[in-house]
Amino acid sequence: MTDLVNVSASAAPPSSESPWWADAVVYQVYPRSFADADGDGMGDLRGVTSRIPYLAELGVNALWLSPFYVSPQHDGGYDVADFRDVDPMFGTLADFDELLAAAKAAGMKTIVDLVPNHTSNEHVWFQEALASPEGSAARARYIFRDGKGDDGELPPNNWNSVFGGAAWTRVQREDGTPGQWYLHLFDTTQPDLDWTNPEVRAEFRDVLRFWLDRGVDGFRVDVAHGMIKAEGLPDWNFQAHMLEGGTVDPNHEDSPFFDQDGVHEIYRDWNAVLSEYDGDRMMVAEAWVPDVERLFRYIRPDEMQQAFNFGFLLSGWSAERMSANIEETERNARRLGRPATWVLSNHDTVRHSSRYGLSDPTTYPRGISAEDEQPNEALGLARGRAAALIELALPGSAYIYEGDELGLPEHTTLPAEVRQDPSFFRTKGAERGRDGCRVPMPWDASRPGYGFSDAESPADPWLPQPESFARYAASEQVGVHGSTFELYRQALSLRKSESLGQADFAFSSLHDPAAGILSFVVGSVTVVANMGETDFALPEGEILVASHECPAGILAPNSAVWLK
Ligand code: NOJ
Repeated sequence: MTDLVNVSASAAPPSSESPWWADAVVYQVYPRSFADADGDGMGDLRGVTSRIPYLAELGVNALWLSPFYVSPQHDGGYDVADFRDVDPMFGTLADFDELLAAAKAAGMKTIVDLVPNHTSNEHVWFQEALASPEGSAARARYIFRDGKGDDGELPPNNWNSVFGGAAWTRVQREDGTPGQWYLHLFDTTQPDLDWTNPEVRAEFRDVLRFWLDRGVDGFRVDVAHGMIKAEGLPDWNFQAHMLEGGTVDPNHEDSPFFDQDGVHEIYRDWNAVLSEYDGDRMMVAEAWVPDVERLFRYIRPDEMQQAFNFGFLLSGWSAERMSANIEETERNARRLGRPATWVLSNHDTVRHSSRYGLSDPTTYPRGISAEDEQPNEALGLARGRAAALIELALPGSAYIYEGDELGLPEHTTLPAEVRQDPSFFRTKGAERGRDGCRVPMPWDASRPGYGFSDAESPADPWLPQPESFARYAASEQVGVHGSTFELYRQALSLRKSESLGQADFAFSSLHDPAAGILSFVVGSVTVVANMGETDFALPEGEILVASHECPAGILAPNSAVWLK
């Protein structure tokens, strides 16, 4: 119905031969907060299994499980003490096998998180390292160095942890005197492994095989850009932040610990391991790199299969910024014949429906607390629904974070006493942290803890839920016309029937980002989003799905439609 313009950007041609991940909609489960089967206030694997029918109803193709491994939980499970076992708080390996089988029976793939940059300080390797002398083989699995200064009292270099504070912690010798320092790009409890050590490489090949043998379909690779550090560990005078890449400011020197060329060798090695297995096993990189070109280096044909496109997430509610990211992503996807990915939120970000409700919806706060500007909930939700129609129409693969489909807002007034994110503590509260997006899911408005657990008298959820969650609970949305859940379900069903995930892409003749109109054609569907401030008259056409009613063909600001 609308003319195609600027056909420079177009997805890889559709093919029935394409692997499942090329156009999959993947649902991220943060196990602590998804569903609590045993009623202890903490989510668990049996809880996830019990909700697979809900995910099947929603219409997603795959699950990504954030870490459920043995862990002291100093960083929500991204501090792994045993890569080959389930933490008892989440269940057992048998529970995992059941989950996998249930997902498979429902036609869903399952990917698990792999955390190769660091271990927990409770991992047997780190315990051995602490008990072993300087220069020993046990220490060589980590990055131990002598300190600077007369007595080694200063850290070996000036690197800061991503969570704030120094990236080095000093250990004590057996006789109680201060000894060497170890590197931790994240919390003190997350010592970095030394990936120049062949033993570390062999270990992770084995960990991959452990989960592949159990039947997982792939891995989300944590801090995929971080494992190799520049030779000599040179000083760097900047602070790295999550999602934003090593070199946000173009005047920065490149980070000596992120996006080093050496990481790619690791992925070529892992690619070879995955290819020993049948069924299109895959890896998706969590790599914070400065631009789309650098990002696509992680998904060269002999490396990973996908990489999160955080530029899309960081575009905020801005037609110009989002349009620029889509154009660049599609162009590179076409050039390299690799599918794009699209993501709006995850367990590290303020939920997008709250970000979009801020007075500057392109800002990216690191958590929100009661003292900060409070988002406009209705505005954020309206924009969140419209953004979902942009995300779910784009060719490639889309990642949904648990609760996106309910339009869940961030908990923006969590008191300091209940916060758990190490970034809150390490920055002394300057960063509010990520707890607000990790609040347990509301399943049933009428039950304690909004049905996070359906046990008879469950313990309180591990983080308190805001009262507003009653309105967002699945019980208030599933089967309710006009709800956000039904919007997602309808969009996912159309995405499938119209094969949007593999369709050609082009910006449409309506596309006018300077005026706030983002519009593109995917296959036979035209998407129009009004990210501006004035009404927009839609052209003739059948409305397939709309984030809001469009009376008399008028697309109001903060809404989007799919037209045919
Ligand atoms: C990225 C993960 O998504 C985040 O939650 C974690 O804190 C860091 N990596 C460290 O593992």
